[in-house]
Amino acid sequence: GSLYGVGVVCLQGRAHSYEGPTFETVKTYVRTLKCLGCEIFVATNASGSLREDVGPGELMLITDHINLQPSNPLVGPNDDQFGPRFPPLDNAYDKTLRQELLSLAEQEDIRLNQGVYISVIGPNYETAAEIKAFRILGADAVGMSTVPEVLVAVHAGMKVAVIAIITNYATGLASTSHSHDAVVAMANQAAEKLNRLLKRFIKELA
Ligand code: HPA
Repeated sequence: GSLYGVGVVCLQGRAHSYEGPTFETVKTYVRTLKCLGCEIFVATNASGSLREDVGPGELMLITDHINLQPSNPLVGPNDDQFGPRFPPLDNAYDKTLRQELLSLAEQEDIRLNQGVYISVIGPNYETAAEIKAFRILGADAVGMSTVPEVLVAVHAGMKVAVIAIITNYATGLASTSHSHDAVVAMANQAAEKLNRLLKRFIKELA
């Protein structure tokens, strides 16, 4: 469709690695966006926080990632019509887009934290020992998605921005066991400010 005169494609849901072999699906939907002419790829997700100062209901702008998923959608023959064999990731989370989102969040009075996302395959939540290790590695948020899509989007030359909704404190920081229902409820609760920020972002592109 079109929002404020800007062409927008919206995808609901995603293919997670924990569902089984999904990389062909991920490549198909992300590359379809590229073929449709998308220049900017914005992903959202639900994440656990590894930072005491960023609790459930907060938003986190992802600045970089650590990929702990066991494979990668770009493994296999390279499709040169989309991008290079060895794509660099130094600006995977596009700096200009990040600056723009930070500035718009401030104008909208939305707190936008920043941090590094660590991607695991799941489907289990992490152990406390794993979270302790991930903190030492430099992660701020943990989740089971997003990185495969980011890799395909960056490879295809799209500018990427990712915003995580922090739905829970990660294992060991949380006082209770994780519940998927609580994660979904918190994601829905924080969706209003995320929607507002994304709409404003698109408006500024017009
Ligand atoms: N761990 C992994 N994935 C998640 C979490 C978590 O704590 N919360 C939401 N997605």
